[in-house]
Amino acid sequence: MINIRQENPEDQKNVYEVNLRAFGRKTEAELVEKLRGADGFIPDLSLVAEEDGKIKGYLLLAEVHVKTKDEEVPALALVTLAVLPKAQKQGIGGLLMGRGMELAKINGYNIVVSSGHPEYYSKFGFTFAGDKGLTSKLNSGSSFMIAELSPNALDCVKGEVIYPQVFYAV
Ligand SMILES: CC(C)(COP(=O)(O)OP(=O)(O)OC[C@H]1O[C@@H](n2cnc3c(N)ncnc32)[C@H](O)[C@@H]1OP(=O)(O)O)[C@@H](O)C(=O)NCCC(=O)NCCS
Repeated sequence: MINIRQENPEDQKNVYEVNLRAFGRKTEAELVEKLRGADGFIPDLSLVAEEDGKIKGYLLLAEVHVKTKDEEVPALALVTLAVLPKAQKQGIGGLLMGRGMELAKINGYNIVVSSGHPEYYSKFGFTFAGDKGLTSKLNSGSSFMIAELSPNALDCVKGEVIYPQVFYAV
């Protein structure tokens, strides 16, 4: 049975491995390492999927802001969603996303941005961020997506998504 739980310090090596193997490169694995302890990192939203004592998947949401003309509105960005290649297509990604979005709401966030495959994220209520009046220096086009966790959360929130500094150094 898959258990979705908060990452603890002993998991960090395995989490690195999950990101590395899922993406086939170091970029996401190293971004996660840099984010721990940096602005925007929220331990509650760093989640592992464990089965039989083995870490098979990982999800991280970090705090970002939407800079409108009047204020900076807190939001979350999906930093990474990764499942070990051999464990894919068994629902682990979906479980991590479901729990992540639930915890995002419990932690008081109404907006989640992601970058990734539109077909996959549309299953979780994501739509194109550009259509909602959002911009980003890191993202654009169909891979720049947004989910509203409460109805009309974006009605008065238009502007640039500002990520923690470490994102801009990737
Ligand atoms: C994307 C990913 C996290 C999905 O995890 P998973 O555990 O396989 O997901 P689930 O089992 O919950 O869902 C599988 C479904 O998602 C679909 N899916 C997986 N990757 C997809 C993609 N890139 N685009 C569209 N659909 C995709 C599968 O085809 C499958 O569809 P089906 O249920 O209709 O057969 C996993 O494939 C992965 O780690 N990929 C590499 C890293 C990555 O691209 N992460 C996402 C960007 S941040």
